[in-house]
Amino acid sequence: MSDYRDAALTAAGRDRIEWAGAEMPVLKLIKERFEKERPLAGIRIAACLHVTTETANLMETLAAGGAEAALCASNPLSTQDDVAASLAEQSGIDTYFKHINAVLDLKPQITMDDGADMVGILHKERPDQLTEILGGTEETTTGVIRLRAMAKDGALKYPIVSVNDADTKHLFDNRFGTGQSTMDAIMRATNRLIAGRNVVVVGYGMCGRGVASRARGLGAHVIVTEVDPTAAIEAVMEGFRVMPIRDAARVGDIFITVTGDTHVIAKEHMELMQDGAIMANSGHFDVEIDKPGLASLSEGRVRRIRDFVDEHTLADGRKVYLLGEGRLVNLAAAEGHPAAVMDMSFANQALAAEWMVNNHADLTPQVYEVPEDIDKEVARLKLHAMGIQIDTLTAEQVDYLNSWEQGT
Ligand code: NAI
Repeated sequence: MSDYRDAALTAAGRDRIEWAGAEMPVLKLIKERFEKERPLAGIRIAACLHVTTETANLMETLAAGGAEAALCASNPLSTQDDVAASLAEQSGIDTYFKHINAVLDLKPQITMDDGADMVGILHKERPDQLTEILGGTEETTTGVIRLRAMAKDGALKYPIVSVNDADTKHLFDNRFGTGQSTMDAIMRATNRLIAGRNVVVVGYGMCGRGVASRARGLGAHVIVTEVDPTAAIEAVMEGFRVMPIRDAARVGDIFITVTGDTHVIAKEHMELMQDGAIMANSGHFDVEIDKPGLASLSEGRVRRIRDFVDEHTLADGRKVYLLGEGRLVNLAAAEGHPAAVMDMSFANQALAAEWMVNNHADLTPQVYEVPEDIDKEVARLKLHAMGIQIDTLTAEQVDYLNSWEQGT
């Protein structure tokens, strides 16, 4: 099934997939091994991931391993249409849930999800298929939180590997990927100067650290808002101003939410904003900015002033702007993470799928971490591909680090 907008985009998509592939040497090595060893032979994989050039390279790696893989979008606005056209035969934008169901019609044995919507549909609407599932993988923080809640309630029916928790995923993808691509998206959508502006970063987790650091690099005065005291101290010691959102709302020029939480910018905060304030979200779901609250403030005085920029006029004439309909702005208004970080995230995905195929019989329905040897191997391969060498411990150092008798 395919609903992409224009078949003429196929060739352009192929070129862009290749361009991304050139920055994904670790995934390429895995693909070459998969071609020889075929570790996923005959396995049906349903993937619900952002349809981007990097994901296309992952799908081709899974296919090289012998899998029969189908892909649908994990977010209504994140699909790159030329990639969908080039991967051909699947995806599109028609309706998000229709596509998830179409991919599940494949009767998958492995699910590869980003945000856990596919896992949710499988458990709630298609429980008869659960017995056929060997296991799954999950890409993002929000999906992992949802899956852990399911496991805690005894609702999760098969084991899932949290790819997000691998060091080689969240330390790089969430931080450097989200940092760069979020600022890229805001600049592409608005063409506003960042230097000298007050940029408010809501949430100082892995993504927030990346966004705050990149905004500072562009010359912004960065303000962080947090609910976690440790994260807040870290932001303070990084040199950012930290204050409640109520105070930040009055002075911010650009607001960026990256919390995985709901209504972190609420209606009452929007009421305090300056004329011209811009809001963008880079967290997984479009709930971080209170869209119904914004709609009630602007009462229909809304126009799309540029692609991905909706202007809301408040009762007193002030205008505030929402980018990308409050959906992950880096995928809606730009191209998502650069391939060089997705190389590591998707290397973990491919190896986690292989691990699940080999180990599912010994696992129970819960959320598993990516095995440390896979995580370290991805880091080693990445360094190797970058031509960077590091030291190894000497025998004396191994002894020293393992002993408790040697001291002062
Ligand atoms: P994290 O758990 O490391 O950080 C979230 C931070 O938000 C925490 O420090 C938490 O204390 C804070 N927070 C929660 N509620 C808050 C509130 N009301 N006000 C201020 N701070 C609040 O999570 P991570 O990895 O940074 O992910 C954040 C979101 O971004 C998730 O939804 C995740 O799925 C998504 N994500 C998006 C990507 C993208 O491409 N745009 C890439 C990776 C993750």
